[in-house]
Amino acid sequence: MKNTLIYSKITAIDWPQIIEIEQQVYPNPWPLKIMQDCVAAGYQCIKGTLATNPDEIVCYAFMMVGFEETNLLNISVNPQYQRQSLASQMLHRLMLVSRINQAKQMWLEVRESNLAAIRLYEKHGFNSIGKRRNYYIYTTVEGRKVKEHAIVMAAKIQ
Ligand SMILES: CC(C)(COP(=O)(O)OP(=O)(O)OC[C@H]1O[C@@H](n2cnc3c(N)ncnc32)[C@H](O)[C@@H]1OP(=O)(O)O)[C@@H](O)C(=O)NCCC(=O)NCCS
Repeated sequence: MKNTLIYSKITAIDWPQIIEIEQQVYPNPWPLKIMQDCVAAGYQCIKGTLATNPDEIVCYAFMMVGFEETNLLNISVNPQYQRQSLASQMLHRLMLVSRINQAKQMWLEVRESNLAAIRLYEKHGFNSIGKRRNYYIYTTVEGRKVKEHAIVMAAKIQ
């Protein structure tokens, strides 16, 4: 594989790069505090880099490990590196971590309009198991208020 990900834990030095990517890829980016809370809570907070440039973060993910299940909270790929199977590699890694932690399923919420992410998840065995009405309420950079439903998806961990 051309772009093989190297995984490591997110640390404080990574926040500027992660925040920059987060703001580029989401209409409703997470604030830094939420990410810091994930690290403080001991969640799986993983960054992916490439051998060609170990200082550049190309993707990252946050996942909560619960009893017999994991909850994928965030998976993001630097726009310059999308469509190069990096999210797919990261998802495989997260499924492996889930299996090691005896999880039987991994679940997540995704914006109904986020077709790229929905396709990614379907490709990796996730099925839609429900909907949360108006789960996302945010103001766009143009100042427009948006309400959007979330699709809940789950995959068996085998
Ligand atoms: C969704 C996201 C993580 C996908 O990352 P990626 O590294 O580009 O995904 P991959 O290259 O591994 O793609 C795997 C599959 O997902 C689907 N997919 C990915 N991007 C897609 C797009 N823009 N349009 C349609 N399908 C897409 C395709 O089925 C693709 O397989 P293919 O390339 O063989 O057609 C990335 O677009 C991203 O960071 N988006 C913004 C953040 C986000 O929405 N995260 C999900 C939150 S729930």
